[in-house]
Amino acid sequence: MNRKDLLARAVIDYYAHFPASMREDILHTQEVVSYTRLIAAGEGEAEAQIELLECAAWLHDVGCPRSKEIYGNSLPVNQQNTGREVARQLLSEHEAFSASQKEWLIQVVGTHHQYKYAVEFAFSPLFEADLIANVLSGYHKPEQAEHLFATLMKSTTGRALFRSVVAKP
Ligand SMILES: [Fe+2]
Repeated sequence: MNRKDLLARAVIDYYAHFPASMREDILHTQEVVSYTRLIAAGEGEAEAQIELLECAAWLHDVGCPRSKEIYGNSLPVNQQNTGREVARQLLSEHEAFSASQKEWLIQVVGTHHQYKYAVEFAFSPLFEADLIANVLSGYHKPEQAEHLFATLMKSTTGRALFRSVVAKP
């Protein structure tokens, strides 16, 4: 298996320690991985960058189940910090990533809800993919969808995908 598939298995196996949230979390993660690729490819990203963004997408919510255990919720401030630790631990077993790639992946996990960091650390396709998945799942209220679209969906591909999959108001 290539490194992305090995990482995906590691994430799925990690979620298996938390049976209550496993299926929901894995389905959300798969959805975000898929949209991340479509947005990044549509925006003309190089294949190497798309692959790294997909790896980040596999990891992005890995702090959620532990955060729920510790804090009773998966609020961004809690799950991002927990996620950094879990991502660092999972990546320590994957030597196919360089040290700088590992640090970038951990940084993405630790900041993935904030638009300004999506720009700063160049993970906008993942940020937009997560936004679409979160609107679809009801994590964001339907009445917030248009505001989120107007303020946070910046790429042409992301905006078109959002319009295709999110019900019109
Ligand atoms: Fe997410």
